Formats: sequence, structure tokens, C-alpha cells
Amino acid sequence: MAIFSSEVFKNQHALVTGATGGIGYETAKVLARMGADITITGRKEAILKQLKEVILSEQTQVNIDYVVADLAESSDREKLIRSAQNTFGPISLLVNSAGISGGSIVEELSQDVLERIMHLNYTVSILLSQEIYKTMKENEVGAIVNVSSLSGLRGTYGGAAYVGSKFALNGFTQSFALEAIKHNVRVNAVCPGYVDTKMGRDAIRKKADRENNSFEEQWEIESRNLPSGRITTAEEVANTIAFLLSDAAENIVGEAVKISGGSVMR
Ligand SMILES: NC(=O)c1ccc[n+]([C@@H]2O[C@H](COP(=O)([O-])OP(=O)(O)OC[C@H]3O[C@@H](n4cnc5c(N)ncnc54)[C@H](OP(=O)(O)O)[C@@H]3O)[C@@H](O)[C@H]2O)c1
Repeated sequence: MAIFSSEVFKNQHALVTGATGGIGYETAKVLARMGADITITGRKEAILKQLKEVILSEQTQVNIDYVVADLAESSDREKLIRSAQNTFGPISLLVNSAGISGGSIVEELSQDVLERIMHLNYTVSILLSQEIYKTMKENEVGAIVNVSSLSGLRGTYGGAAYVGSKFALNGFTQSFALEAIKHNVRVNAVCPGYVDTKMGRDAIRKKADRENNSFEEQWEIESRNLPSGRITTAEEVANTIAFLLSDAAENIVGEAVKISGGSVMR
């Protein structure tokens, strides 16, 4: 099976959250190349508009629409799902890529920051999936990929809130996968380490400040520490997501697929 051919997701409707950010943006491009109808969402309309134009310039035949939504708000989530399904019909592929990082060492962590991170990274991923799963279950077809992190598999210094949210997301992925597979809906997660996106660069910058290095020095150190010798690109994560959504991953259920350049092996 040519998993990246333009026929793979023909007649399927993909919803990609976090499409204004590095990983979601590349994922939308890859899924469009693979023939899906695409709904992209984020809060920044200008980037959604630009991504739509980029995709249409590459794939003139693709059906793509965007919906501006703040996923932290239930009314926006409802609007998003309604608008997406009215435009392209039932969503059969869902990528939960919207996420926020941040937080601090536990002593300095405020309840507000903790709750904001848990809400978007964990609760919102469940609530969106729950809603979209209704039609997936009815139609007995679907695949969901949650964009988790290596931070969902082991702790990091100062990462209590973010790490907790990604451990929780992996737990959700496993439990939901057991329920959903009974209805031919596969649920999986990807767990990248640092990715070359705004979030990844911010995390490296934060570590550089802590360790009294420049950003460039820290980037170099982090790259050198990886067996592969380099930071993962957003497109590499997008390709893994596309694989997990496709029938090529037919018996992969409830997995947390690492993209770590060889840094975490277990
Ligand atoms: N980059 C990394 O190193 C890395 C590593 C492991 C895992 N991840 C995970 O990968 C996912 C994508 O991250 P990224 O690297 O692409 O980061 P990014 O470039 O910072 O993008 C984050 C995305 O989340 C969206 N978002 C944030 N708050 C939102 C809200 N309230 N409502 C709707 N959308 C919201 C942003 O949209 P707007 O800005 O338009 O609101 C943006 O599209 C995240 O879940 C992240 O935890 C990233």
C-alpha cells in the first residue's frame, strides 16, 4: 500500500486542531496531499487563511475549510463541529494537536496555570473526541490521533503541569482506544521530543536561560544529545500522524508512538 498516495484518504473528512501551529500546520498539508477533505482550526484567522491558500496552491482539487475557534470554550467547540460537519459531512479523522506548554517548578506553579494547561491539553482533547466519536461510532469508521509528547512518558524539570497533562492524554488514549476499537475506531497518540516549532524553540530557549547558554548553544546541545543528532521536524511528526490515521496502521490501537531521534527507547 502506497500510504502517502493521493487516494489514501479519499472521501474522508479530517479535522486538524492546532493547525495554526507547527505540527498541525504540516499535518493538514500532508493529509490534504493524501486526498482528505480538511477542516483546519485555530484561533489565528490570518494563519488559517494562509494555510488554506498554501494547500489550495499545492492541491487544486482539495476541499478545505477553516473555522476560527478557541477550543477552551465549549460554544466554540460546538460551532467548530457543527460548521465542519455541515460543510464536509461526518468527520472520520481527528487530529488533536492544539496544546499549550508552560508552567514552572511545583513551588511556583499557580492553580490558574495548572488548570489552563490541563484543560486544553487533556480535557478539551477528550471533549472534542467524545463529540466527534458519536458519528464515527454510528458509521463504524474513524481514526483519532492525540498529539502527546515524550513528556507523557517521563518527567522533566519544571514540567509538572505540562507533563501531567500529557501523561493524562496518554491514559485517555489507551482507555478510549479499548472502547472505540469495538466500533472500528482507532485511537492512538504520537509522542515527539523537541520539535522545530514555536513551542519547541520556546522550550529550548527556556532551558538555555536556566543553564546560562545562548539559544543557539542550547539547540546544539539538545541536537548532539539525540542519537540521531538532530531535532525532529514538524513534517516528520505529521507523517507519523498520517500513518497512524491510515489503514496501514490497521492493528495499531492505543499506542503512544515515540518520535525521539532514539533518545527514549522503551
Ligand atoms: N514543539 C514541540 O517540541 C512539541 C513536542 C512534543 C509535543 N508537542 C505537542 O504538539 C502539539 C502541537 O504543538 P506545536 O509544536 O505545533 O506548537 P505551536 O506551534 O505552539 O502550536 C500550538 C497550537 O495550539 C493551538 N492552540 C493553543 N491554544 C488554543 C486554544 N485555546 N484554542 C485553539 N487552539 C489553541 C494554537 O493555535 P492559535 O495560536 O491559533 O491559538 C496552535 O495552533 C501540542 O499539543 C504540543 O504539546 C510539541
